[in-house]
Amino acid sequence: MRETYGAILPGMNLAEMTGKLIVVEGTDGVGRSTQIKLLRPWLEQQGRAVLDTAIKRSELAGNGIQQAQEGHTLGRITLSLFYATDFADRLEHEIVPALRAGFVVLTDRYIYSLMARAIVRGADATWVRNAYSFALKPDAIFYLRIGVDDLIPRVVFSRGFDYWESGMDIHPSEDMYDSFRKYQTELLAEFDNLAKEFNFEVIDATPDLRTVFEGLRAGIARVLSGEPREPLFSVTPSPSAEAPEAASKKVVEMPATGKPAASSEDETQPVAQALARAAEGDATR
Ligand SMILES: Nc1ncnc2c1ncn2[C@@H]1O[C@H](COP(=O)(O)OP(=O)(O)O)[C@@H](O)[C@H]1O
Ligand SMILES: [Mg+2]
Repeated sequence: MRETYGAILPGMNLAEMTGKLIVVEGTDGVGRSTQIKLLRPWLEQQGRAVLDTAIKRSELAGNGIQQAQEGHTLGRITLSLFYATDFADRLEHEIVPALRAGFVVLTDRYIYSLMARAIVRGADATWVRNAYSFALKPDAIFYLRIGVDDLIPRVVFSRGFDYWESGMDIHPSEDMYDSFRKYQTELLAEFDNLAKEFNFEVIDATPDLRTVFEGLRAGIARVLSGEPREPLFSVTPSPSAEAPEAASKKVVEMPATGKPAASSEDETQPVAQALARAAEGDATR
């Protein structure tokens, strides 16, 4: 039977959730959405039903959070609770029904990003853990890990700095670059704490799209085949403390899965096309 981190939402029956709950976590701009776009067709080609979901997509709270963010008016605790509401709504109305129907649920962030954001904004760590203790424990949490020095160019050359991703609400500054660096450094340190506590599987997000994708694919194939996890990658030292050369040379050892999930070219063709399109997009940016 599935477990939660403590509390159980009223009316929630934890039995008979035969699907798999797979979380992709990581900071703003690290490449989560890009990877989920590739993972979904790869899983569907294997005949699996997939639900992909992400924060702010709930019917109940998604639009409200968007409007609140545009107005920058909510207090920190209120905003945190708004996110928790969004999560609870998606858990009850999307994630649990999909798990009962045997889907692979791929979620772009889970409670950990929400916890990290609340904690760096000064929320009490125990309060935050209690607030999210109704969350289901996932089958795997893949953490796309990057250092701030590698993250900055990725964000600059894609969508640029954004008010919330730069933590401008807590580090107001004339210079968004300074805020972004400061805020993301704090956030990454908090992610590293959570990685240990919640047993994240760490994937080095600094290499190219395909390498990151292969790491994720091997990890997910292992989860779906029910093989046990092997130790992957140490989360110390903190990425911000690493020399950039050391970070770029880092190689993640993925466990041998015995049977690679998608070894035949036919099986990976749509994914290969998507990768090529993504790479073209990068080149033209
Ligand atoms: N491994 C990678 N190497 C280089 N650029 C990447 C990589 N992964 C993603 N990107 C680029 O970084 C930008 C942000 O990616 P995105 O998937 O939107 O991030 P997130 O969903 O985590 O915020 C996009 O322009 C994407 O093409
Ligand atoms: Mg995204």
